[in-house]
Amino acid sequence: MRVSVSSGSFLCLREMFFVTCACVFLDKSVTLCARTRKGKDMEIRIKSLEEIGQAAKEFVAAMGDRRVFAFYGKMGAGKTTFIKAVCEELGVEDVINSPTFAIVNEYVDGEGEPIFHFDFYRIKNLQEAMDMGYEDYVYSGHVCLMEWPELIESILPDDAVKVTIEEEENGERKVSVKSEK
Ligand SMILES: Nc1ncnc2c1ncn2[C@@H]1O[C@H](COP(=O)(O)OP(=O)(O)OP(=O)(O)O)[C@@H](O)[C@H]1O
Ligand SMILES: [Mg+2]
Repeated sequence: MRVSVSSGSFLCLREMFFVTCACVFLDKSVTLCARTRKGKDMEIRIKSLEEIGQAAKEFVAAMGDRRVFAFYGKMGAGKTTFIKAVCEELGVEDVINSPTFAIVNEYVDGEGEPIFHFDFYRIKNLQEAMDMGYEDYVYSGHVCLMEWPELIESILPDDAVKVTIEEEENGERKVSVKSEK
């Protein structure tokens, strides 16, 4: 009798141990899934210009409700080319020229909403950005796509999505998307 009780208690303890382990494991898995779901970092590889439309499609699908995108990358990395593809994917019909002389170019997407494309390469100082209405654009709630954001880094909105484009030795482009919020 005593044996069977203690054996029963042992079984009970063993089951409790397994249940506890299972709970800890499940809890960890759920946390991991949530983290994966919440994390919006991604990487897109573009092997050649023919693939850029597909890459832009992936990028647009992941934009969600985020509006401000800062594109980092060396000169010639492919920022304008990728932004052009993204705009086409968003339904922009007008020809997009690199805003070489204008700091900001405005396009209209497929739903009639404005998209602002900035190139800060020639900006002289932050005051110049403020004077051209930078804050009105970036806090307008419309999509803003920026080249050379490092030149206005200190006034980038906290929730700006950081996109880095790198040209690899074989000419492929790697697009890394990192959002801190
Ligand atoms: N994904 C790609 N595959 C192959 N070639 C590309 C790709 N993206 C851009 N290029 C080519 O690289 C060159 C430079 O591209 P782009 O003007 O977009 O660079 P950028 O990063 O905007 O440069 P800048 O800093 O001068 O504004 C162009 O000739 C373009 O055709
Ligand atoms: Mg450019």
